[in-house]
Amino acid sequence: MKFFVDTADIKEIRELHDLGLVDGVTTNPSLILKSGGNITDVTKEICSIVEGPVSAEVVATEYGQMIKEAEVLAKIADNICIKVPLTLDGLKACRTIRTSMNRLVNVTLCFSANQALLAAKAGATFISPFVGRIDDTGSDGMELIAEIRQIYDNYDFPTEILTASVRTVNHVKQAALIGADVVTAPPATLKALVSHPLTDKGLAQFLADWAKTGQKIA
Ligand code: E4P
Repeated sequence: MKFFVDTADIKEIRELHDLGLVDGVTTNPSLILKSGGNITDVTKEICSIVEGPVSAEVVATEYGQMIKEAEVLAKIADNICIKVPLTLDGLKACRTIRTSMNRLVNVTLCFSANQALLAAKAGATFISPFVGRIDDTGSDGMELIAEIRQIYDNYDFPTEILTASVRTVNHVKQAALIGADVVTAPPATLKALVSHPLTDKGLAQFLADWAKTGQKIA
């Protein structure tokens, strides 16, 4: 399973990259706003750190304008993945970006299995189902991941399931159990994957016993 980091915070991306935990990055207009930077500058810096796909999102809602924005974003770096919304115009743009521009596409804001089916038929590289936002409505976001996994496997669609809107470490575990290809999570959630109270307790005990030996290793 690939780990993408869901942020435009350069410091956080560097830290996780140094830990070997960043296979790619996802950004969106809200994350660019949070970064306080210019989309081109911030995205270029992310691409200089991360070799894998870096999603940059168009903000146009009409096909022709989406393509113009995609052309601008694609020039930032070779590993830019163009993010388009799950609308008819977005799906049309997805097909064009994949076939005529030969670039990666992440179709975002997916909330149903039928939407994911359309994205796969449009040749999307990634589909981004938003599990946390589905959970917020009282439904189970992970059920959608399982449905998409089954549909894509039924027809051998190569589109990768990029589990997005991840809020908890349990989302990461469930996505991995279902067989999602990628999870994109905020830095704090990725770092929290390492935590277990018995690890902390066990380490404290080992260190206390080691101190009693009076020995040194180096
Ligand atoms: C990633 O591609 C999405 O934009 C992101 O995961 C959305 O997360 P949120 O629902 O926490 O804003």
